[in-house]
Amino acid sequence: MTTGGRIIGWGTALPDKVLTNDDLSAMMDTNDQWITERTGIKRRHVGGSTSSLSVASAQRAIAMAGVDPSSIDVLVLSTTTPDRTVPATSATVQNALGLRCGAFDVNAACSGFVYAYVIAHGLLSIGAKRALVIGTDTLSRITDWSDRGTAILFADGSGACVVDATADSGQLLGWDLDADGSLEHLLYAEVGGSIHMDGKEVFRRAVRIMVDSAHKSLAKAGLGVDDVALCVPHQANARIIDAACRQLGIPLERTAVVLHETGNTSSASIPLALFDAADRGRLNDGDIVLMVGFGAGMTAASAVVEWRKP
Ligand code: COA
Repeated sequence: MTTGGRIIGWGTALPDKVLTNDDLSAMMDTNDQWITERTGIKRRHVGGSTSSLSVASAQRAIAMAGVDPSSIDVLVLSTTTPDRTVPATSATVQNALGLRCGAFDVNAACSGFVYAYVIAHGLLSIGAKRALVIGTDTLSRITDWSDRGTAILFADGSGACVVDATADSGQLLGWDLDADGSLEHLLYAEVGGSIHMDGKEVFRRAVRIMVDSAHKSLAKAGLGVDDVALCVPHQANARIIDAACRQLGIPLERTAVVLHETGNTSSASIPLALFDAADRGRLNDGDIVLMVGFGAGMTAASAVVEWRKP
């Protein structure tokens, strides 16, 4: 028997503190025009911990799903910025939410939420009944605030969803997970250190690996780009999103973009964009959604989902 999964509730959380491009201009040699033109980002939210943001988004997801927390039998938290090295931040989140279930962290950098979502489906297919999938990062904690090449990009946030097992094959129609560790030098942070990035090279490769991954997921689903009602790309840079969507042949009207408000929130980026679109009523029953991310590692991940209103 094959069981799939279906999202029955979601929630997001952003820290209260907002940093605008003008705020950054007062801290370093940059300006609103440069940041806007090169990245599309206007402001970002910073603050809080990975566990506190995760608890906030998960509580909203559980409330929307209208389920008893005790019915959740697995928690998968995607983060590249755990509260501590040990234990996994999912343990802190599990306890704060009052769950008693298997709980673990996944680190696939900015592709992490899609990794976690696909992993949850694997667990649902072998007997788990209800999964809580969270994507949270607090990149502001590992950003070098004197480096204008990275400080303008990264920020904090969280998105979560409750995914129920279904008797049928569920809403995940195709997926792709990839990584190329030989490129790890392009984007990394040592333990206790801050982010180092070769921005130009990451940019160049990001477009190609997003497009490749999207094609692989769509092929597995037996669908084409014309079937995609909404593309939800990793929110790293508006120019990367533009280039990837242009190469895919998906117009920007069919693309979810929130990065002007959020910056690059890594694991939270795709759920923030997806659930923003859902909250705005941009998704109808049966719509095909393409999530596609890339990140340090260099990872790539995509998933083709048939949207079902909870
Ligand atoms: N403000 C003002 N000027 C800046 C600046 C800033 N924040 N950062 C760099 N500059 C300057 C540079 O010094 C350079 O000046 P020069 O021409 O006099 O030497 C010029 O702007 C161009 O810099 P460059 O690094 O070539 O810009 P870019 O067009 O490559 O944009 C990024 C830089 C980081 C925005 C871009 O490379 C990028 O987004 N890369 C992908 C990063 C990413 O997505 N990472 C996360 C992956 S999950």
